[in-house]
Amino acid sequence: MNVLVTGAKGQLGKEIEKLSSGQLWTGERKFFFTDIDELDVTDIASIRSYITQKTIDIIINCAAYTAVNKAETEKEKAKLLNEAVPAYLALVARESNMPLIHISTDFVFDGEKKHPYVETDKPNPLSVYGRTKLEGEYEVIKHGGTFIIIRTSWLYSEFGNNFVKTILRLAKEKKELGVVSDQIGAPTYAEDLASVILGIIPNIQNGTREIFHYSNEGVISWYDFAKAIVDIKNINCKIIPIETKDYLTSAVRPLYSVLDKTKIKETFDVQIPEWRDSLKRCLNRL
Ligand SMILES: NC(=O)c1ccc[n+]([C@@H]2O[C@H](COP(=O)([O-])OP(=O)(O)OC[C@H]3O[C@@H](n4cnc5c(N)ncnc54)[C@H](OP(=O)(O)O)[C@@H]3O)[C@@H](O)[C@H]2O)c1
Repeated sequence: MNVLVTGAKGQLGKEIEKLSSGQLWTGERKFFFTDIDELDVTDIASIRSYITQKTIDIIINCAAYTAVNKAETEKEKAKLLNEAVPAYLALVARESNMPLIHISTDFVFDGEKKHPYVETDKPNPLSVYGRTKLEGEYEVIKHGGTFIIIRTSWLYSEFGNNFVKTILRLAKEKKELGVVSDQIGAPTYAEDLASVILGIIPNIQNGTREIFHYSNEGVISWYDFAKAIVDIKNINCKIIPIETKDYLTSAVRPLYSVLDKTKIKETFDVQIPEWRDSLKRCLNRL
């Protein structure tokens, strides 16, 4: 089986590469890790020719526009990556009768709910990023044949830029750090998500068209997350809880975006690690 991973230099792509041992061959699978330099996914002709040339059997789309605040002013760029690209990939995958695994986000929800979001809850994104990611889901559903969309939240990894690395850097520079305590969600270690994705591949049936939710177990605020990072790393920096209204960003974020993971757990018999255990694993590598 030949597996194409797009956007492979990002957090999730790098974790998939790490888990497949950085080897091109793992058992029956041959991986093709591509990013914009090797396969620009905004060009549908390039996607078609790549999958024909390499006889690809499944696509994992990790390419995206993920700069949530910048998206407010770079709408066209966000639309291209988050809406048009999933449409291209879904179409090409359907033409070749192969599955597409596409990644989406908790930011498709408005955070008004007070208990975990299930896959069938009505989305209502608050930001350009959230809206483009939701449109991307619709494009996959519209053009796709066999596909799985996985919505995830608060993704971090030892690779790339993310909240964990930012807190580590700032906490070493400052004595105090204010972090929002009224946005509630659940972090996702990209290594755990990568592992689930690799495990799911052999279980995708022809004609599967499903959305799943995945994050680590637990429910916390960004304040709790930051506090755990400095505590585990023994950094002498006081984390102070602040409110969203006192930390203005260009993109509005949902105040509550916990994802219900029952469906993915039951469908694929997935064991999900607790957020703190996963955080410790990641911090050990940083
Ligand atoms: N990060 C989060 O907190 C979060 C939360 C929920 C869901 N998600 C979703 O999870 C998925 C993975 O996120 P991530 O954090 O791993 O993203 P990421 O680190 O931003 O990686 C995305 C990758 O796509 C690449 N890319 C950009 N334009 C491309 C093009 N035209 N052709 C090919 N590759 C291109 C990027 O390159 P450049 O870096 O050079 O642009 C980058 O390497 C995304 O769908 C994201 O929306 C993320």
